[in-house]
Order: sequence, then structure tokens, then C-alpha cells
Amino acid sequence: MQPGAEALVEESSREFRVATRTYRDPEIFQRELDAIFSRGWVFLGHESEVANPGDFKSTRIGSQPIILTRDDNGEINAFYNACPHRGTTLCRSERGNVKAFVCPYHSWTFRTSGELIGISDRSRYPDDFPMDDKRLHRIGALANHHGLVFGSISADVPSFADYLGAGARHLELWAGRALGGRYRAGTPHRYLYRGNWKFQAENVLDGYHANSVHGSAYRTIRQFPQRFPGTDKSRAITGVRKEGETCGYPNGHGMLGAGAALETGNVPEEVKLRYRASLVERNGEDVAREIMNNRHLLIFPNVCLMDNNIRVIQPIAHDLTEIYSYPMLIDEAEEPINAARLADVQARVGSAGVVNLDDIEIFNSNQTAISAPGLEWITLSRGLGKEEVLPSGERIGAHSDETPQRAFWRAWQQRMVAAEAA
Ligand SMILES: [Fe+2]
Repeated sequence: MQPGAEALVEESSREFRVATRTYRDPEIFQRELDAIFSRGWVFLGHESEVANPGDFKSTRIGSQPIILTRDDNGEINAFYNACPHRGTTLCRSERGNVKAFVCPYHSWTFRTSGELIGISDRSRYPDDFPMDDKRLHRIGALANHHGLVFGSISADVPSFADYLGAGARHLELWAGRALGGRYRAGTPHRYLYRGNWKFQAENVLDGYHANSVHGSAYRTIRQFPQRFPGTDKSRAITGVRKEGETCGYPNGHGMLGAGAALETGNVPEEVKLRYRASLVERNGEDVAREIMNNRHLLIFPNVCLMDNNIRVIQPIAHDLTEIYSYPMLIDEAEEPINAARLADVQARVGSAGVVNLDDIEIFNSNQTAISAPGLEWITLSRGLGKEEVLPSGERIGAHSDETPQRAFWRAWQQRMVAAEAA
């Protein structure tokens, strides 16, 4: 008999620890797919990926294939990617534009709004064969927040705004950077690593590891600045170089203040100043400064708005994870700003980015090392008891505290325990 989740995360006033089997046990992984991925909000995509009627994108919630579509009425829909005839995966493409989906098995045809519009050789069915219920099945809930589309398999979820809670403030600041307009998602960098998905979820908000893990990458960036045109962190538009803080939220979200703005490298001075002036005009000086201070926001469980990209963490097995990293461009920004944003993703945090590669090496080696006999617990106690706790439940720690990781694991445990009771 497996231990319940109650025994997998332990917190006292002196230590916060997590059982290593949570990273290496295939049975716990299967329980996570249900408790964490099927019973709550999960990121599906950015609305710019389905900008026009007929556009679609295939994605997953945990292991469940999903299609995101923009139908002929301009509405966004999320369906299970399953033909109601015989259960076949309907759409095999990553993204594209169609008039209708045609099932590869028997050519049943569906509108992008889900209705069944064609059965091949219809005459061999009863004349009154019910068609209405043979439509594509919608997932339980859908929300579009500043162009970020989230879905839930379960319909029994809080509103997305309630789910975000006080963490919404960081999402507003992220949205503010788009100058009152929209972001546009670029083609994602995709890659796999041989490690548990939670290593990446913990890492995107880890202010403690940067100098240890990324020291050589930072030296390279300083030595060859022309090859990293998006990464001039020291001369940000704001004029401040702030290390920032960490935050943790009751539903598992977290934030790492990651220092000053990034879109500054090779961008001409006058373009930077116009961008900054536009932010100040829209938001006032204080909020503009906050907007330009870069942040990583993890929306539990598996999407992070970080720097100039959105990173999506797709679990495949307990020891295999797929990452999608979408460069996010700004419709209203001048071309050099977007060029710097894209260059930063390519050179620093994308699939071949010098900083990113360091982290992937850590995740791979963690997966091997964490199976060591006798290593039953890891510890996430940095800043424990030293963080500020607000009435909303928000906790604020120092830059290198493990405050966001503890918030993640508290929510993980609550969700796992709740699913055990269901
Ligand atoms: Fe890192």
C-alpha cells in the first residue's frame, strides 16, 4: 500500500521537507495526472496561437489530448481530441487552419465549433440515428485571462480569478508590458529532459541557484555581449537593478523577482526611451517601474511567464518531461524591442540557450541521484519562518528563499489529499 500524500510533504517550524519518491515513483505520477492535472486549471495556450477562424492547436492536459480552436464565430473552444465515433485521436497536427476536422479513421467530419457535420456513407445508419450528441466534447471549463487560455477537465473548479488570488497582481504587470495591446506567441522551442516535471516547476522560481549553476553562462554573456543582444540587465530602462523578492500563494502559484528589464541590449536609446515613456503614460511612474522589473510567475501547476517567454512544462512520465518555450512578442512595440526579446530567448533561455542548458543538466542528474538508497527526503527550508505572511495568505520571502517552492508543495499536497478523499 502506497503512503497517502499526507506523508509525502512534512512541515514544522524548523524544517519543510518533501519525500524523494514524489519525483521517482511512477504510481505517484499517475495520481498526479488525476489530482493535479485533471482536477484544476491548466494552461492551454495563448490566444494568438488561434488568432483566426479555423485556427487550431493541439495540446494536452496531463496525458489527455486537447484541441484548442477558433471557430467561425470567432469564439475559442477547447475539446477533447477524440472522435466520438470510435475514440480515435481526431487531429494529428500541432497547429494549423481548417474548414473542418476530418477523422483519419472513418472520415467523420466536425466543425471547429464541435458539431458533427458529416458521416461518410450515412445511408447505412438508421434514418433517425442521433447526430447531435456525436459532437466533439468540451472540457469542463475554459478561461481567457489577458490572452492566456486556461482549461480544466473538471467543471468543479473555482473561477480562474479566484484561483489566481493575490497572484493576479503579477499577471497584470506582465500584461502591462504589452503597452495596452497584445502579446503574440512565436513558434515554441521544444525539448525533452530525463527528469521529473516538478524539477522544472521548482527551478523557474529558484533565486538560490543562479550563481552556482549559471556562473559560467554569465561570464560568457559578459565576455561576448554582442552575441546576447537581449541581455543587458544592468542598464535597464528603469535605471534600477533590483534583485527582487519571492512570493508564494495559497493555490501553489509563486513569483521570483528576477531583476531589471531585459529588452535593452542592442535596442537604440531613443527606442528604449519611447517604450519607457509609453509605459509611464499608461501606468504612471511607479507602476511602469514595477512593470519593467522582470519577474517569473509560475501559475500552478505547469506554466511560467518568465522573462521574454512562456514556458510550459508537460509531464510525460515520472522521469520524462517535455518543455515548450514560446517567445512572446509585443504587437505595439517597435521592431528593435521584439528583436531583442526574440534574441534573448534564442541565446539565453530557449532550447539552446546558455542559461537553460545548465538547468537541464541539473534536472537530468537530479533524477538519477534522487534514487540513491537512503535518500528519503529533500529539504526546502530556506527562509522558513523568516517570511512575511499577509492576510491573503501571500507569503513574501527574500530573493533566494524557497518560499515559492513551499507554496507549490503545499498546494500539491492539498490537491493530492483531496483527490484521495474523492
Ligand atoms: Fe537556472
